[in-house]
Amino acid sequence: MFKDIVKISDLKNYNEKEVTIGGWVRHSRPSGKLIFIVLRDGSGLCQCVIEKGKISDELFEQIKRVGAESSLTITGMVRKDERSVGGYELVVSGARMLSESVDYPITPKSHGIDFLLKNRHLHLRSQRQWCIFRIRHTVINAIRQFFNDNGFTLIDSPILTGIVGEEAGSLFNVDYFGMPAFLSQTGQLHLECAAMSFGRVYCFGPTFRAEKSKTRRHLTEFWMVEPEVAFIELPGLLEIAENFVSFIVKRVLEDNEAELKTLDADVESLKKIVPPFYRLTYTQAHEILTSQKTQDFMAAQLADFVKTKQEIEEKIKALETEAKGQIKQWRQDKIAAELIELRSDLAEIDTKIENNPKHAKLASEFKWGEDLGGSDETIISLMHDKPVFVTHYPRQAKAFYMKQDGDNPKVVQNFDMLAPAGFGEIIGGSMREDNYDVLLGKIKEHGYKLENYEWYLDLRRYGSVPHGGFGLGVERTLAWLTGEKHIRQCIAFPRMMDKILI
Ligand code: 4AD
Repeated sequence: MFKDIVKISDLKNYNEKEVTIGGWVRHSRPSGKLIFIVLRDGSGLCQCVIEKGKISDELFEQIKRVGAESSLTITGMVRKDERSVGGYELVVSGARMLSESVDYPITPKSHGIDFLLKNRHLHLRSQRQWCIFRIRHTVINAIRQFFNDNGFTLIDSPILTGIVGEEAGSLFNVDYFGMPAFLSQTGQLHLECAAMSFGRVYCFGPTFRAEKSKTRRHLTEFWMVEPEVAFIELPGLLEIAENFVSFIVKRVLEDNEAELKTLDADVESLKKIVPPFYRLTYTQAHEILTSQKTQDFMAAQLADFVKTKQEIEEKIKALETEAKGQIKQWRQDKIAAELIELRSDLAEIDTKIENNPKHAKLASEFKWGEDLGGSDETIISLMHDKPVFVTHYPRQAKAFYMKQDGDNPKVVQNFDMLAPAGFGEIIGGSMREDNYDVLLGKIKEHGYKLENYEWYLDLRRYGSVPHGGFGLGVERTLAWLTGEKHIRQCIAFPRMMDKILI
């Protein structure tokens, strides 16, 4: 029945021809003898113009009252029209209602995030979410292409595991037939085994952290891609990481121009993402954070925030005044939607104004030896227009498997990659401790059960080689690319500390 349905994205191939499209009503506007319906079908949007008399009166009246998200098929002549959404219009000759949707709960007026999360099953249909997940699709495709084209073999690591990969504090426990087990925090340790067989490997899947953290950067279930390479040193790893991220950005710029535009993403900044990225050691980052330069930077930022706040307040005042006057309903609705947006921007800038001095103080008091906090990462990343590698963190701040530095045993050979413009860490990686005795000492130091790590130690018993790798978080990368503030919008069904909604 639907075999002749044409995708909206393919309408360009059918100009001046009659086609049938199938989809859901984004919105409809009756105007005298005409009805304008914008239909979405998952591939794009198309305005359909229905003229009274061209379809039965009964259907015309039914469609006139049609609610958002009703599903139907529409037949008509394709007409190129630059002004129309999607660039093509359908001059309708027939229509078939499949299912009427009455009182769709998500309206064009803005809703609060809690409401939208509760209605995630429906909110996925929204334009913004649609754009984000089209870009996610490209990102995942680019990830696989990069590794497949660069001699990496895909090895799937297990999700149920018996060992601590990162920190014991963020493990999800599973009752595995009466035995203790965890949901995997990382595929890395298992991937190290595979690297000793294939040389260059990667795994890609969901990972789990029981993080009691409600920040905009944390999920309890997120997707991570992890490459692992034998016979490599830290500078070589950084090169792979910067080529990899640049490749992802390039693919997104090529494949998702329209989506980036709809999302109002910072395309010009993304075009700058080419190697080499900036490189700082942790000690240099510490010097920057505790310097006067950072305090000046924060003060300048605060001044910018205050100015932006004033501008938003002025816009709100002007719109409120206009809304009180005699204006058409469509303008009233537009103003109402704009006001909701502006008030949300205002709340956000207020938070920034409140946090700025706190973050400036945290930076000035930052002690060598601590891990970089979220706000410290934000400051460093705001100071740079391209991603920054921060390398050589203090040993005590990092995971047990990271390789101790030969020149300075207080630090490890690791790196985090911070995305620019305040987005913070998107990659964590390191060289792995390949010395049997040092690794044994670290496992004991952390109080992990030795018997669980015998297989991991075997990799150092039988033909140990220098090796390392990294993990890139898909949702954080996507948040950076799309300019989305919270990573919960970058996964279809987010899992956060306080809720599993659907
Ligand atoms: O820095 P992490 O913890 O590194 C590892 O798990 C290593 N074993 C990876 C490796 O070397 N193979 O995490 C890597 C990345 C982070 O940079 C971030 O992008 C993402 O995973 N990530 C999270 N994303 C969302 N929510 C969380 N709770 C995340 N924790 C880490």
